Amino acid sequence: MQDIIQKEFNLRKDLIYLNHAGVSPWPVRTSKAVQQFAEENTLQGSFRYMEWMKTETNLRVQAQKLINAPSKDDIALLKNTSEALSVVAYGLDWEKGDNIVSSNEEFPSNKIVWESLSHKGVEFREAELKSDTSPEDALFSLVDKRTRLITISSVQFSTGLKMDLERIGHFCKSRGILFCVDAIQSIGSVQFDVQKIKADFVMADGHKWMLGPEGLAVFYSNSEARD
Ligand SMILES: Cc1ncc(COP(=O)(O)O)c(C=O)c1O
Repeated sequence: MQDIIQKEFNLRKDLIYLNHAGVSPWPVRTSKAVQQFAEENTLQGSFRYMEWMKTETNLRVQAQKLINAPSKDDIALLKNTSEALSVVAYGLDWEKGDNIVSSNEEFPSNKIVWESLSHKGVEFREAELKSDTSPEDALFSLVDKRTRLITISSVQFSTGLKMDLERIGHFCKSRGILFCVDAIQSIGSVQFDVQKIKADFVMADGHKWMLGPEGLAVFYSNSEARD
């Protein structure tokens, strides 16, 4: 393991890198792949376009395995976590009076887009996570009959608080509420199972724990919610 780490991470010798939760350094293989792709575009444009499509499908299959999605068709590649959250927010048919429940500690990507639905009469409710109750109970306490969706980060970016996603997913399923998880602080560093947590939507850009470049995100949507 140590060998692989040394081979793949060619960091400056005077650096101890502890910022994967922000932007991770690229492994050597990532760097090579990007360089090869740039070189290929320079030499022959999109001549091998059909091969590129195979690479894309292969990546979706790998992402499917990484998060235990039922099918590669449940995986889309988007630009980033924020874009995927916007796809969900603006892909649903909201009705005046609907509400969305989240926390008061979310990264702005998982807040601003939901707040922007206020012009449709949709309310964004933020649970206080530092209350006496558990973080999950704090969320549940804001839910009522008009709650259409709960959206939460799997791990809070500012505190590292890890949510009990299985519990929230179970709660949502039993009440017909959609469950959306910003998983950028989890996927790649811990096991992540979209079926176990009963998630409807999961998104994560690759530039943190998946050790990829910025600008390429995994977006999972379960087939029923997608319809
Ligand atoms: C919890 C969380 N969500 C979203 C983002 C932003 O993601 P993206 O740049 O992929 O839109 C970050 C980045 O730090 C984050 O920590």
